[in-house]
Amino acid sequence: MIIKVSCLGMGKLATKQKHSEQQPYAKPVLKWAGGKSQLLPILANHYPQSLGSKTRKYIEPFFGGGAVFFELYNAGLVDEAVLLDSNPELITLYNTIKEKPADLVAELQKLEKKYLALDDSSRQEYFYEVRESFNRGYSSSYTSPKPARAAQLIFLNRTCFNGLFRVNKKQEYNVPHGRYSNPRILDDDNIYAVSEALQIAEIIQSDFTDIAPFVSDNTFIYYDPPYRPLNKTSNFTAYSGDFDDAHQMQLAGLFKQLDKKNVYQMLSNSDPLSATGDRFFDELYSGYSIHRIEARRLINADSSKRGKISEILVKNYEQN
Ligand SMILES: C[S@@+](CC[C@H](N)C(=O)[O-])C[C@H]1O[C@@H](n2cnc3c(N)ncnc32)[C@H](O)[C@@H]1O
Repeated sequence: MIIKVSCLGMGKLATKQKHSEQQPYAKPVLKWAGGKSQLLPILANHYPQSLGSKTRKYIEPFFGGGAVFFELYNAGLVDEAVLLDSNPELITLYNTIKEKPADLVAELQKLEKKYLALDDSSRQEYFYEVRESFNRGYSSSYTSPKPARAAQLIFLNRTCFNGLFRVNKKQEYNVPHGRYSNPRILDDDNIYAVSEALQIAEIIQSDFTDIAPFVSDNTFIYYDPPYRPLNKTSNFTAYSGDFDDAHQMQLAGLFKQLDKKNVYQMLSNSDPLSATGDRFFDELYSGYSIHRIEARRLINADSSKRGKISEILVKNYEQN
């Protein structure tokens, strides 16, 4: 069956041969700070013209929730991908979905059944039990499939306050319980759709500095690093972790180094120029194309701070 995928916006209307009539489109499994779902129609106007034809390899070094990759896969624009993130929980989760989706679905079924049958206070107790078990099982470097652990991560993400992933200095997940009346913990159709999408991908726990060996001619690389804080509040530090200005500069160095190859690079970040007149990124990426786009900040514990903000999109190619 040939279907037209119009969600890509005006810039890219693609056609795709769908694998089966029932198979739904893959979408992010986790709610993730900095997730790009809301921005997809805008980003679509900025993908390289050759994407889907000459350019069919995709690399995403700060994978997170993966909204852009799933969009490109659904539209049939890529057939090879390298997806990297430094967070071992994410890598284990995606490798589990790729290789053992049925085991993951079975684990999630157990968690969902138990949780939804409980009253409010028992749900809270159960949430903290799962959270403690998740924290006891932490290791800084696992990447192979672990269905029970991956299920705990999805469960915590769906039932915690505001869908956050946040750990303290001891790497303990510390987000409180969320109290949604009927949270969707298991979306098995999406787990299988994501599993199919991930078959074209290598999923690797890695620092962004290690991507060079994966880059070949005509690769499209999308960087969505932890954003540079606009204000130096302690609250923002929790989201951006240890990704400071030295890392932003190192990333710009990588961007410039790879620019010498025949690759297309696109990068998102905050826009300190619009917010405070700070030219940090305009100077760091001078000579490249810098677009300012409007985004809605989705994950912020303080609802008064969930407004429209400007972000930058840097590209090493010209169009639009
Ligand atoms: C802004 S999020 C990416 C959001 C993602 N594009 C989405 O749509 O959900 C940034 C990601 O970078 C990862 N990260 C942080 N520091 C990193 C590093 N030094 N190398 C690779 N990944 C890193 C974090 O684990 C996080 O998943």
